[in-house]
Amino acid sequence: TAPLVIAVDGPAAAGKGTLAQRLARALDLPYLDTGLLYRATGRRMLDAGLDPASPADAQARLVTLGDLSRTDLRVPQVDRAASLVASQPTVRRILVGIQRDFAARHGAVLDGRDIGTVIFPDARVKLFVTASLGARARRRWEQMATDPDAPDREAQIARVAQELQARDAADSSRAAAPLRAAPDAIHIETDDMSADEVLAEALRIVADMT
Ligand code: C5P
Repeated sequence: TAPLVIAVDGPAAAGKGTLAQRLARALDLPYLDTGLLYRATGRRMLDAGLDPASPADAQARLVTLGDLSRTDLRVPQVDRAASLVASQPTVRRILVGIQRDFAARHGAVLDGRDIGTVIFPDARVKLFVTASLGARARRRWEQMATDPDAPDREAQIARVAQELQARDAADSSRAAAPLRAAPDAIHIETDDMSADEVLAEALRIVADMT
């Protein structure tokens, strides 16, 4: 039988990464955070003084598997740069092969925006993980907050919500592989669920489908 591929898609900060990582560990599958490919590419363009919004082919050559563990890939500047390079068809075309090769031999859990629609339309299991904008902004803020008791806490969360919304709008409205649930994806709405509950639900779905 074909290796087990599990696609985990959804908007920013919905809990895809946490779920995909824990699912991979539970099922003993390799895990790939595909957003890191776009983040690493965006980072390299910024470092090279290039504009991540410009679609020049020369820039696509900066696409990299480089150091995906760099800690500075998860900063707001790179959130935006990643989303901008991700709208370029040339960049996406180069990254398709890397993602498919990753999963070809042993299967994998991959999280992203277009895994179930474009990268692995035949994935055995497709999950679409969502949560309300408010819940996503609060969780993202809690991960980043330097002072959990900051007096302007709510204003900070509102700013995070604005950034998430802008990125989701850009990711959903682009022509190339937009953020979209595959028609056969199973939706998990995580607002009122703990990470453990999300994992348990996903494992039930996988058991049903495999
Ligand atoms: O998932 P993450 O927030 O790290 O992704 C960063 C950006 O990379 C997204 O906003 C999106 O524009 C892009 N991306 C994508 N397709 C994927 C994964 C990420 O376009 N499969």
